[in-house]
Amino acid sequence: MDVLKKFALTGKTVLVTGASSGIGAHLARVASQAGANVVLAARRVDRLEQLASDVHWLGGQSLVVKLDVTSRDSVEAAFDAAEAQFGGVDIVLNNAGIGDAQRALDISEEDWRAMQATNLDGVWRVAQCAAQRMVKSGRPGSIINVASILGLRPGTGYSHYSAAKAAVVQLSKSLALDLARHKIRVNAIAPGFFKTEMNDAYFETEKGQNYIKRAVPTERLGQLHELDGPFLLLASEAGSFITGEVIAVDGGHVINSL
Ligand code: NAI
Repeated sequence: MDVLKKFALTGKTVLVTGASSGIGAHLARVASQAGANVVLAARRVDRLEQLASDVHWLGGQSLVVKLDVTSRDSVEAAFDAAEAQFGGVDIVLNNAGIGDAQRALDISEEDWRAMQATNLDGVWRVAQCAAQRMVKSGRPGSIINVASILGLRPGTGYSHYSAAKAAVVQLSKSLALDLARHKIRVNAIAPGFFKTEMNDAYFETEKGQNYIKRAVPTERLGQLHELDGPFLLLASEAGSFITGEVIAVDGGHVINSL
């Protein structure tokens, strides 16, 4: 087999949560370029429709579904729609997330709960729903959870986000154990800092730019295309023996010098 063909997603169906912007929108395009049918799932359907018009001419087919990961009904409905259109989902990019820096002393009960509801409960809900359907249909699968380097090391102002992302790391490993016998692999990608809607205001500032120069050994932000390789590795046959792994894609940020 041509070694590069192992990275292809031809004939597979990939569901991407939070596909309306940033990392999700980018990797949805990559999945399409790799030959997959792509289910574009998020709350902002107008944005997804726009993305779908690109995706159509890149590779496989696309389907737009409205999804709120905080609602079980919404998650089940998205998988129902994917099954009706494509027969089922093989790969999930569990990417939807929120992020706002806040000092630990100021976080309200409401903000804490909202963070966990999306960034942890939502990831668990989507992964469980995907796995239940894969097992029921006897389909092998790959679930890729988007964690963060803030799930591996803490950062000032991120206690609520870090706690959720650390839990996503441990959830990914635990699910990998439970699901291995069903031929479902579960891994996590832990991005460092990539400029997206979540953080672009901060990285426009001098403070943000200085922080990156000081804290990241490679002295720069990540570019979205630098996530393509890790995503395709974990999604495709090329990663067939990788499960329970966390891949940091961060220019060395998490191993910066003490
Ligand atoms: P983004 O804000 O562009 O994308 C997040 C997406 O999730 C948006 O489309 C948003 O609408 C969607 N979303 C939020 N709540 C949702 C819900 N309840 N249901 C469905 N969709 C929902 O930001 P970005 O950077 O692309 O974030 C994607 C993932 O990457 C997030 O999980 C984030 O925590 C993670 N990440 C991002 C980093 C970065 O530097 N940009 C660094 C480390 C992790």
